[in-house]
Parts: sequence; C-alpha cells; structure tokens
Amino acid sequence: MLTQKMQSEYNKQINAEFYSAYLYLSMSSYLSENNLNGFANWMNIQYQEEMFHAMKFYQYVIERGGKVVLDAIEKPQAEWKDIIDVFESTFEHEKHVTSLVHNLMSVAHEEKDYASVSFLQWFVDEQVEEEANVDELLQQLKLVEGKGSGLFMLDREAKARVFTPPVAQ
Ligand code: FEO
Repeated sequence: MLTQKMQSEYNKQINAEFYSAYLYLSMSSYLSENNLNGFANWMNIQYQEEMFHAMKFYQYVIERGGKVVLDAIEKPQAEWKDIIDVFESTFEHEKHVTSLVHNLMSVAHEEKDYASVSFLQWFVDEQVEEEANVDELLQQLKLVEGKGSGLFMLDREAKARVFTPPVAQ
C-alpha cells in the first residue's frame, strides 16, 4: 500500500507528465505550422513518450493499491520565437522534470518506500537520456543557427524518429 504522501506525490507527477505531453504536442503543432515536418514528427514522438510516462506512473499507483486522481492540465504555450527557442524551452522543461523525479525519489526514501525507490530508478535513468537527447539536438540547431540547408538536413533526420515503447521494467 502507498502512503498518503507518496500517493499524492505520484498524482502530481501524473499531471506533470500529461502536461509535458500536452506541451510537446503544442510544439509539434507550431513546428508543422512552420513547415518543419521532421521536427514536428520528433516532437510528436516526444508527446507519445510523455503519455507513456504518465501511464507508467498511473499503472504503478493502481498496482500498489492506490488511487489515481486526475487533475486539470494547464494550458501549454502555443507560440515560440523560432526552432532554437522551442528546443531551449524543451531542454529547460526536461531539467524541471528531472528535478520533479528527484524530489519523488527523496520522498520515497523519507517514506521508507523501497519498492518506489526501485520503480523510480527507471525514471532517474530515463531523464539522463531525455536531457542528453534534447541537448544534442539543441547544440546542432545552434551550430546551423536554426536556418538554411543545415536546418533542412536536421529536419530530414528528425523525420526518421519513431516511437519505440521502452521495454517493460
Ligand atoms: Fe516524462 Fe520527458 O520526461
């Protein structure tokens, strides 16, 4: 059974993951509108990953005999300055999510919920990858100054990204 504190923290995280999905879908729409269809695809995959994260937390709460309480999802931003701005915002957002996951891990330790400590390790590792992937793309976009043939090539590469559900824990 989950403690009340742990359950409440998981419910906040479920909302944060759904918000992340919503934010990335909004970015995907902005990128489509700006004819960057490869990056729009990349961001759509990001959206699907966040939905996967939300549902992974959701299923875990249920599995532990807890109750999922869904909350309103905040309205995401809809406009950005340019593609570099989009990826800078994504990088900042992922760093924020990492801090939320680390906070959950701290609460799991405080609550002596060692099952959660084990479960959350997957998210700690996942965040390292998420930040690295976004930062790599951001640095590449800065190299080509977010324009011209460099941008065209990066957009083509981004089109190849596919969603592969991570292997079950
Ligand atoms: Fe659910 Fe991108 O972290």
